[in-house]
Amino acid sequence: MHVDRFERYWLIIIAAVMGAFFAALLAGALIFGVRLPSNPTQYINPLAVDEEFPEPGLRDMGNGQYTVYILAQMWRFDLGSDEKDADGNDVIRVPAGSQVTFSITSRDVTHGFIIERHNANIEVVPGHVGNVTVKFETPGEYRMLCHEYCGQGHHRMHATIIVEE
Ligand code: CUA
Repeated sequence: MHVDRFERYWLIIIAAVMGAFFAALLAGALIFGVRLPSNPTQYINPLAVDEEFPEPGLRDMGNGQYTVYILAQMWRFDLGSDEKDADGNDVIRVPAGSQVTFSITSRDVTHGFIIERHNANIEVVPGHVGNVTVKFETPGEYRMLCHEYCGQGHHRMHATIIVEE
């Protein structure tokens, strides 16, 4: 079979690039232990979240570290907070410089969880507990939003974290 010279060059280049990518994939997985961020580390019985998941709420762990347990459900994030925004959604407050771990699960369908202007993005799947830790340096109000369509109230599903001076 005749293969044109330049076509052969391109085939070699493509094979080399694919080989490099595959080697990087293997090295990442086997040497550096890279895993998908959504890889669940904790499982929970989705029919027994009240028994198996901690009471929703913000816990002060000391040293500027906080943990907040969140229960996602149609169509709100329950942060166990007494403070509400104008729409009746939960509001929590932490001081600037805090490092907050969000631990979240769902009691019904799949939801999403992102925090405005911060690197946090969880697919909230029933039966899984998602965890993400975020450092809040800049004071302000940041919404936590559901980014997975979860029914007719999806677009209203949010909560707020206020980072205070
Ligand atoms: Cu919950 Cu969309």
